[in-house]
Amino acid sequence: MTVLLDTAPPSVYASAAAVLVRNWTGSSTVPSRTLYPHQWSWDSAFIAIGLRHLSVRRAQRELESLLGAQWGDGRVPHIVFNPSVPHTAYFPSPDFWRSSAAGAASGAPAGTETSGLVQPPVHALAAWLVHRADPAASERRGFLQRVYPRLVAWHSYLTGRRDLGGAGLTANVHPWEPGMDNSPVWDGPLSRIEPVPAGSYRRADLDHGDPADRPTDLDYGRYVRLAADYRDRGYADDAHAFAVEDPGANALLIASEHALAGIAAEVGADPAPHRERAARLTGALLERLWDARDGIFRCRDVISGEPIDERGVAGLMPLLVPGLPAEVVGALHATLTGPHFRLGELPLVPSYDLKGPAFDPSRYWRGPAWFNTAWVIERGLRQYGLLGDADALRSAVVSGAVESRFAEYVDPFTGEGHGTRGFAWTAALALDLAMTTVTAVTT
Ligand code: SER
Repeated sequence: MTVLLDTAPPSVYASAAAVLVRNWTGSSTVPSRTLYPHQWSWDSAFIAIGLRHLSVRRAQRELESLLGAQWGDGRVPHIVFNPSVPHTAYFPSPDFWRSSAAGAASGAPAGTETSGLVQPPVHALAAWLVHRADPAASERRGFLQRVYPRLVAWHSYLTGRRDLGGAGLTANVHPWEPGMDNSPVWDGPLSRIEPVPAGSYRRADLDHGDPADRPTDLDYGRYVRLAADYRDRGYADDAHAFAVEDPGANALLIASEHALAGIAAEVGADPAPHRERAARLTGALLERLWDARDGIFRCRDVISGEPIDERGVAGLMPLLVPGLPAEVVGALHATLTGPHFRLGELPLVPSYDLKGPAFDPSRYWRGPAWFNTAWVIERGLRQYGLLGDADALRSAVVSGAVESRFAEYVDPFTGEGHGTRGFAWTAALALDLAMTTVTAVTT
């Protein structure tokens, strides 16, 4: 059960709400008016979690507009393009992805342009939290009845066509999919990819962001190659040159599968298959990705079959998974508070190993602290009764978000804002943590 308390200080509430109102387009929320002017998948899920405190109706709309662009094979695209935004505003634009034509065999919608990639499945968890914010209103509008079959198809895609490693986990086929684009965790698998020639495309992100905060041109050349190859194969899930099992994406899938069990019970469907799938996924996560020696979940390179020897924040996100063995929780907590991440000494959680050779406090996912990963970890700490650390992280999210003017990410040492400002999930999740007391995570 989730208990909502009206306790957000007025300044947090008003300033976070102002960002969410400003970024609302009428049917969804842009992550940023400048840098990301369309609808993004995991952004929308995190945004809905905050929007439920302003307007449950709007939070429902956020999720339903995204799910409205779902493909026939069940995939929920990572970007849904707004046709009124010029192609020059964001790269890669709809004429690069050509989803309605190139994705037709996979059931891409004919009337909406999207990307062909996915992002982590936070959506069922978000739908459940939106429902719980006002169950009567949700029931009146048939919200769960409408989203349930779409969420089931989404998870079936991830655990079916995307079980590329054959052990039950979902795999990601592009660094944009786990959502941590330029994490040093991908440097190894990405180094095998031939970049497209510089000058064969034009980045739009550098018009709005400091190049020192953004991925490099070399990384972009490889991102473009992988996306173009996927498109040219009709977005078929075979012959991927990059494939990884990410602990963050799989942890969110498991939390969402537990949420689906709750949703199933509400809509009169059988929750048992969702609980069974969550248990199977949890077993596979522990079996395939847990590194007991270093006390962190590793990403696995599906192509080489090897675990990747880097510590990323995604390796701590399984704290969100219910029912982990006590020794795994203890070891994860020790890693989180130890020298590689230093929770307690530092207010938020860096996105990459503070002692790692590639650590950079300002460049996108190579070190800065992000608010969505903090939200996930806060929830995980609370679930396992680690309340002192959970409370401190909660306060740090709220104050760090407001002080940085809702920055996309911050320097983990100084809290200085980087990337864009007025970033929607930063506002949404700060609002959520300012207003919600979570007494149990998924039921
Ligand atoms: N995060 C990517 C970008 O920077 C796309 O999902 O555009």
